Amino acid sequence: MAQNKQNNVLVVGGSSGIGLATARLALRQLPGTNVIISSSNKDKLTKAAEELKSDAPSGGHIIDYVVGDISHLDTQFDDVEAILKASTEKFGGKIDHIVWTAGSASTPPQEDKPSHKTALQSATTRVFGPATLFQLGKMYMTDTRHSSITISSGVAIYRPVAALAPYTAGASIEPLSRGLAVSLAPIRSNFVVLGAVQTPLLERFAGNEEMMEWFKSRSLTKTIGQADEAAEAYLFSMRCAYVTGTRIDCDGGNLLV
Ligand SMILES: NC(=O)c1ccc[n+]([C@@H]2O[C@H](COP(=O)([O-])OP(=O)(O)OC[C@H]3O[C@@H](n4cnc5c(N)ncnc54)[C@H](OP(=O)(O)O)[C@@H]3O)[C@@H](O)[C@H]2O)c1
Repeated sequence: MAQNKQNNVLVVGGSSGIGLATARLALRQLPGTNVIISSSNKDKLTKAAEELKSDAPSGGHIIDYVVGDISHLDTQFDDVEAILKASTEKFGGKIDHIVWTAGSASTPPQEDKPSHKTALQSATTRVFGPATLFQLGKMYMTDTRHSSITISSGVAIYRPVAALAPYTAGASIEPLSRGLAVSLAPIRSNFVVLGAVQTPLLERFAGNEEMMEWFKSRSLTKTIGQADEAAEAYLFSMRCAYVTGTRIDCDGGNLLV
């Protein structure tokens, strides 16, 4: 991380969960951080931005939001560009770090039949969304090794579960992230592989103790991760200017169980 400079951080999917926790941690721990959170829901963003402002250390940080729905493949490129453009305007300069945690939940897996629709929905926000950065990254980001893109994935891409099989389409996040690292260098690109993390995404299982115990059993720590624990993985990617083109596992050891 470059010292004595502004760190303009855009979190796409920052209105809740891991994205919001990452924005909060960046404000606390990265010097000179300004944060824009983006998602499709203005009410959630307004509330989240207020939370960030009340929690942020003093120091005149820019904390703001940009509304943008990136789930429509036909308009996605323009929709992402609009988010990046509005963010640079609000920052008054280029973006240093893009954290991509946008992704919506499907119906509960036990009721889900793997379907093409689910695979398409999942890949549109999680894979094709950040893929726009091949073209847009250099235009809107500071072109140094102190800049980073960090995108999100889950253990299911390496350890498929039948009911979650459509999500394995997200496995292309790995070549996407490595491709971004090569094509946007020296801007860095890494991806985080998440185990079960307690966020609104997991709330569809609220009250389903059997499912929660199953998640815990699929880890070495025998826990469900917390959003602020997951945020540490994104901070590492942002902070360590010698880490690029790699995978950061934050899964309680899920892939070893
Ligand atoms: N939590 C886990 O156990 C877990 C495990 C593996 C992988 N992951 C992945 O980690 C990422 C973050 O998940 P999370 O647990 O933090 O979930 P979350 O709390 O539900 O956050 C998802 C974020 O994505 C945004 N979003 C959803 N649809 C969008 C759209 N069409 N356009 C723009 N933004 C959109 C949501 O905001 P709006 O609703 O306001 O649009 C929200 O800010 C996701 O990609 C998820 O698949 C999570």
